[in-house]
Amino acid sequence: MFEHLSPQPEDKIMALMKMYREDTRENTIDLGVGVYKTAAGVTPVMDAIKTAEKMLWEVETTKVYTGIAGDPGFGRALSGLVLGDAVAGERLSFTAQPGGTGAIHQAIELIKMATPDATIWISNPTWPNHPSIIKHLGMKMAEYRYFDDDSRGVDFDGLMADLAKVKRGDAVLLHGCCHNPTGANLTLPEWREVVALLEKTGATPLVDIAYQGFGDGLEEDAAATRLIASSLPETLIAASCSKNFGIYRERTGLLMTVSDGAKASDITQQNLTHLNRQNFSFPPDHGARLVTMILEDEGLRADWMNELEEVRKGMLSLREGLAAELRRATGSDRFGFIADHRGMFSRLGAAPEKVEKLRVEHGIYMVGDSRMNIAGLNTETIPLLADAIAEVGI
Ligand code: LMR
Repeated sequence: MFEHLSPQPEDKIMALMKMYREDTRENTIDLGVGVYKTAAGVTPVMDAIKTAEKMLWEVETTKVYTGIAGDPGFGRALSGLVLGDAVAGERLSFTAQPGGTGAIHQAIELIKMATPDATIWISNPTWPNHPSIIKHLGMKMAEYRYFDDDSRGVDFDGLMADLAKVKRGDAVLLHGCCHNPTGANLTLPEWREVVALLEKTGATPLVDIAYQGFGDGLEEDAAATRLIASSLPETLIAASCSKNFGIYRERTGLLMTVSDGAKASDITQQNLTHLNRQNFSFPPDHGARLVTMILEDEGLRADWMNELEEVRKGMLSLREGLAAELRRATGSDRFGFIADHRGMFSRLGAAPEKVEKLRVEHGIYMVGDSRMNIAGLNTETIPLLADAIAEVGI
């Protein structure tokens, strides 16, 4: 049987992680996988998570199954964080998922169950696992323009021109904030234009929100998702707690749908629950429980928000530091966009050969499309990166 299997293409980000681990040189710089790191290069467990884990250990008396859809308290707490009061509860359905990836996967399965002929539109570029999952599930896919190679900002005219071609029944995958891999984001007025266009075309948005709190703040980063969900009849939202709660390996995410009324929401909920049962039955609960405890306890929530804000501000100052060092190293302002980008990533806009040179000659690892994880830097490595970028001639 297994002789019929063929080798699978390696995921770019996973391949880079492996190469970095195998590099024995000293002073290598890892700007690859999207994991937050302190200046000392560690990915800490957040204080509020530690406290919640301790409390949970004390009070948890059973590990018996939760519901197939996960703990409804988690769904309420996380949908509250993402959506605020943007949509009426009766329109909302949700299932707990193993991470943001699980939520994306099942969102696409739900689209497939509803409209198997739908085309799913993804930004060019996007997180490489988006097209990979869509292909795996046998759905049609198309790209809309997103990144302007000259300004390193959003190609908004290209995006609007491409999204005008989307058909009723198609789905459009949008990054709610902190676009991965570019770091370039739409302004709120631009989001309003996108929403109006989606309304006109009758397409359904699928919002991937994996970095809430890493861009401009928890509320600000949720503004586009709230605008979309409150303006259109139907929306799918895949939320991840990996980054903003720092619980990567706990696999904690939520798939939410906003339906056109309470009756439609009931049926959507049944389908979402059915998908959980088919795929894994009961979703993981540990991370979800910690997140619920934090969001529902005033003190823990404040503690978590403070730590998240420190992380966000730290990344912003790394961005500003790198933009300034690049000004020094290259004698030009052409890297000013790094300070304007938001979230964990920035796309440098360098050719793959230059990215390769950075790795081979300077031990600097970034994804081949020149995406760098800003959180992989610190005040010591910023000048090294700036000098290396100048030297390889980016
Ligand atoms: C990333 O983009 O690096 C992260 O979302 C981690 C991953 O799973 O790819």
